[in-house]
Amino acid sequence: MKIAIIGAGNMGGAIAKGLAQGTIINNNDITVADPDIEKLKQLQNFASGITITTQNQNAVENADTIILAVKPWLVAQILGQLKIDSKRQVLISIAAGISLEQLAKIVSPEMTIFRLVPNTAISELASMTLIASLNASKEQEQQVVDIFNEMGLAMLIPESQIVATTALTSCGIAYVLKYIHAATEAGVEMGIYPKAAMKMIAQSVKGAAELILNNDTHPAIEIDKVTTPGGITIKGLNELDHAGFSSAIIRAMKASK
Ligand SMILES: NC(=O)c1ccc[n+]([C@@H]2O[C@H](COP(=O)([O-])OP(=O)(O)OC[C@H]3O[C@@H](n4cnc5c(N)ncnc54)[C@H](OP(=O)(O)O)[C@@H]3O)[C@@H](O)[C@H]2O)c1
Repeated sequence: MKIAIIGAGNMGGAIAKGLAQGTIINNNDITVADPDIEKLKQLQNFASGITITTQNQNAVENADTIILAVKPWLVAQILGQLKIDSKRQVLISIAAGISLEQLAKIVSPEMTIFRLVPNTAISELASMTLIASLNASKEQEQQVVDIFNEMGLAMLIPESQIVATTALTSCGIAYVLKYIHAATEAGVEMGIYPKAAMKMIAQSVKGAAELILNNDTHPAIEIDKVTTPGGITIKGLNELDHAGFSSAIIRAMKASK
């Protein structure tokens, strides 16, 4: 499959690197377009074999799949300028807030279109990527899931859930980082050097995530395993709830919707 990526910024660049490190797409089949040749050259230094161009149409010409990774306000203008074969090619947009219906209006109502929401951990191949589709076959859906599973974890969802799930994942990653920041401050107050504290906390967060992702379990079960009656963990857990921790998380997620 030949892939064209339009926009080599944070997301487009990370996707290009992710594809290049994955097993599904050959580097020779990846073309990235961006107005900034220096940005493109840096990308090519990382992923040799990929093709770079400052002309979007050159990238799109022979592509089977076009990944649009530009700012949302440029989507209509850029798509409008491209000659796309809406019967043969597949469009993947990662532009926040642009619906499948809006995209279909710009290209064609029959075109196979995917709307993706990765999060910033895509640069570490650890993205939670949400995927909604229009006019896609089961095989096409599976292909896109497989490709983005190599950059973390990808899940197909109905488009009606995109707003809520974006709050959980794209905004949610910031809340986890906020926890890491706050916990680091606690470590420093208790005499631990910030860099060491941050590493310890980040690894603990990663470990908690692995427990959930790798096992058929529930956070309450895992919490119970570290909570001895009369022990130190329950004291801290109850402090969190006296301070409204669970409620604050729920309110934050809902506020981000
Ligand atoms: N960042 C996130 O966490 C996140 C998460 C999910 C989805 N998204 C979505 O991902 C999209 C890209 O976001 P980003 O953070 O990667 O933005 P970004 O870093 O600004 O990347 C966009 C890239 O597109 C380039 N560009 C501008 N005009 C272009 C044109 N006419 N043709 C081709 N490329 C052009 C930009 O170049 P210049 O810099 O020279 O303008 C830039 O390199 C957005 O729609 C955003 O909503 C972002």
